[in-house]
Amino acid sequence: HKSEKSRKNRLLNHITKSIGSKFNAVDVIQFGSSANGFGMKNGDFDICLIIPDANQRQLIKKMKNILRSQGMEDVHAILNAKVPILKFKDPRSGLKVDLSINNSLANYNTKLLNAYSNLSELIRNYVICIKYWALHRNISEPRNGTFSSYAWTLLALNHLIEEKVIPNLQDTENKTLVEIDGAEFDVSFDEPKDFKISEDVTISSLVSGFFMKYATWDWKNKVVSIRNGGSVQRDEKSWMDEEPSALDLLNLEKIDSKLGPHHLAVEDPFEHDHDLSSVLSVIGELSVRNEIIRAAKMFGENKNWAEICETVMPERFQDMEPEDLFHDLRSKSTKDVENLKSK
Ligand code: UTP
Repeated sequence: HKSEKSRKNRLLNHITKSIGSKFNAVDVIQFGSSANGFGMKNGDFDICLIIPDANQRQLIKKMKNILRSQGMEDVHAILNAKVPILKFKDPRSGLKVDLSINNSLANYNTKLLNAYSNLSELIRNYVICIKYWALHRNISEPRNGTFSSYAWTLLALNHLIEEKVIPNLQDTENKTLVEIDGAEFDVSFDEPKDFKISEDVTISSLVSGFFMKYATWDWKNKVVSIRNGGSVQRDEKSWMDEEPSALDLLNLEKIDSKLGPHHLAVEDPFEHDHDLSSVLSVIGELSVRNEIIRAAKMFGENKNWAEICETVMPERFQDMEPEDLFHDLRSKSTKDVENLKSK
């Protein structure tokens, strides 16, 4: 949506001038869904400052105070995450921002996902359907012990790669190695220019295939891996299915406990020792499994998409900006709008 893009650009300029220049950032980058082609309306705006040799936690604390003094709302720092994040809301644009420092791998995975989103509009719409479903069913919030939106994007793409609907872009002869914090990562991928999706593919077949695949996925033995074109065996990575299981813990009434990694294992495409399921809690894992089975079953019963995505806890969306009924008129002159009105 054009108006959201221009609000994001204005905010990015503001952050560059007021925070970036103050802390000698050499670059200020958008990443995540606003830059990878799989963005949804009202998604968080992910911004990364590149500051050589930064002490991330210390700087995040300083930035927190500056943003508060600028009138930003709900400013809070998440310092115990793998990459510390400063969250805030800009009251002028209404945008919710996740600000991080030197989150270099995220910039690379944004580029990879962007290459996938450029393959076809059908692929973009399919991935957004899966993210939309997960958001509305309340299973895409790592803070609540469920998968991140990024993990759902990888799961969605993995289905297409494994079914050979799209190529595995990381299956390439090119080698681009980067060093980040002393470790080396292979961030190579291809960007095919002439890819055409088969005409038999429909969005509903992709979405129902997604639910069928993960409703019957062998989580006990397999790790989801787009890098490897579908999956890797757990023992190949030494990511063993850890005990106790979510069900055992549920029986002990420990529903909010964290599970630790490797329960519903999903490998990061570039950071191969990062398991995206490490954020899952007992109730989070069980909700993810139940929701996938619920959706697969509803597809089988020919239920419609609105029913499948029926919003859980609608109060979560209360402060979201309402749809702009006049968005197509905003960029027109008053005279053009008057002319349209008289037609
Ligand atoms: P999000 O989970 O917010 O994904 O992670 P998103 O696609 O932007 O979600 P919406 O549309 O706003 O809901 C944001 C970015 O952070 C990086 C990825 O680049 C991702 O796109 N990220 C996130 C990681 O690199 N690793 C993670 O474990 C999580």
